[in-house]
Amino acid sequence: MQQERKFDKVVSLAKTRGFVFPSSEIYGGLGSIYDYGPLGVELKNNIKKAWWDFMNARRDVVGLDSGILMHPKIWEASGHVQGFNDPLVDCKKCKSRFRADHLLENLGIKPDFRPGAKIDLADVRCPECGGELTDIRQFNLMFKTFIGPLEEEANQIYLRPETAQGIYVNFLNVKESMRLKMPFGIAQIGKAFRNEITPGNFIFRMREFEQMEMQYFVEEKEAKKVFKNWQELRREWYLSLGIDPKNLKFREHAKDELAHYAQAAIDIEYNFAFSGDDSFKELEGVHHRGTWDLSQHQKFSGQKLTVKDEENKDYLPTVIETSIGADRAFLAFLMDAYTEIDGGRSTTTESIKEKEVVLKLHPKLAPIKIAILPLSKKEPLADKAKEVYELLVKNYRIQYDETGSIGKRYRRQDEIGTPYCVTVDFDTLENNQVTVRDRDTMQQEHLDIAELKNYFQKKFDF
Ligand code: GAP
Repeated sequence: MQQERKFDKVVSLAKTRGFVFPSSEIYGGLGSIYDYGPLGVELKNNIKKAWWDFMNARRDVVGLDSGILMHPKIWEASGHVQGFNDPLVDCKKCKSRFRADHLLENLGIKPDFRPGAKIDLADVRCPECGGELTDIRQFNLMFKTFIGPLEEEANQIYLRPETAQGIYVNFLNVKESMRLKMPFGIAQIGKAFRNEITPGNFIFRMREFEQMEMQYFVEEKEAKKVFKNWQELRREWYLSLGIDPKNLKFREHAKDELAHYAQAAIDIEYNFAFSGDDSFKELEGVHHRGTWDLSQHQKFSGQKLTVKDEENKDYLPTVIETSIGADRAFLAFLMDAYTEIDGGRSTTTESIKEKEVVLKLHPKLAPIKIAILPLSKKEPLADKAKEVYELLVKNYRIQYDETGSIGKRYRRQDEIGTPYCVTVDFDTLENNQVTVRDRDTMQQEHLDIAELKNYFQKKFDF
């Protein structure tokens, strides 16, 4: 399958099958903001839960849910007020707007990312119309708002551009209230906002998005080992949820590419296939942030944020961060799961020779776990099917589908990634047995209704 087309197909499926809608669509949409539909919210919640469970499974990681709005000094301390800028250029002729660093990257030129470095655009023209470009302007990505009734500078605050800072400023609260020994980590999932200049590629770059971040606090002498260890743990997480290892790459940042806070950084890249087969882009970052954040907050707040080492000496912990966008993860899991089978695989006559779409999502992530398909809408079969529905609905997200031929119904469920379909037919009335069909193998098993709960408990025991 042509990868470029695959991305477009996934975007289209996401809209038509109720995963993702453009925000405010009846008003013409709002740039790079998206809404998650009934299946999207299930998939996204499942991804967040898988991440949360993975973090929780480690005895040394605890959770936090800090506010989106925080004291504005936090963003001065973190360096975001001064340095969270993108270099912006406009075309003088067609008025298109670009990020200067992206223009250079597209031409195969590596821009200098260091703060204050000059980006040379002397020979670059507008990629849309060939027009001349303006000088670069630095544009701060933080959304501003006001706290309280007066819209004046003294009351200006920001929507957080990353969730991490909420963790740093709560570091001692968490440590002391939970009586935690070093080293330990704090995990958080929450919204972040960035006024991106050139958003796009569907939910890859959004202005409102969700992050799943974990900050691990450790003594400097252990930091390198911990940094390596978290890279491996994160790789295992993706593989455990069925991501094809061929589509993952770990890329180390060059020194001149590092963010202002980072001593070392690894991008976990995924082959999003925006343009062609080989289009790896950042999905997650694993960062060695040194003592940058805690020392800055110590300086700006005037509060001591040190802990004691074995010899009772004060030290500032080093931070190792893992940071992944929930929306980017959503896109990666969708892309990885999307499969087309040419010529079809169903045996029902109407689907033979047609292309079939199967979303091979890991069952843990699948938005609908089980579909109940009665062969007839009428009683007494409908009653029997509802009995099966009631039996399972307390534990699983179920879809009850009674319209169309059974072949079409299987295909509808395959397209949204439902791992199991339970068919209730006329024999069920006689023998209390149903047919359970597996999405990936298409194998069918006949099971007593009384066995179903146990059967699915085993299937969904991760
Ligand atoms: N706390 C570190 C941090 O925020 P980052 O590389 O700027 O680092 C981390 O962002 C992750 O957040 C990215 O790898 C990506 O998955 C996600 N992310 C960042 N900007 C995003 C955007 N505009 N839209 C969607 N996801 C985004």
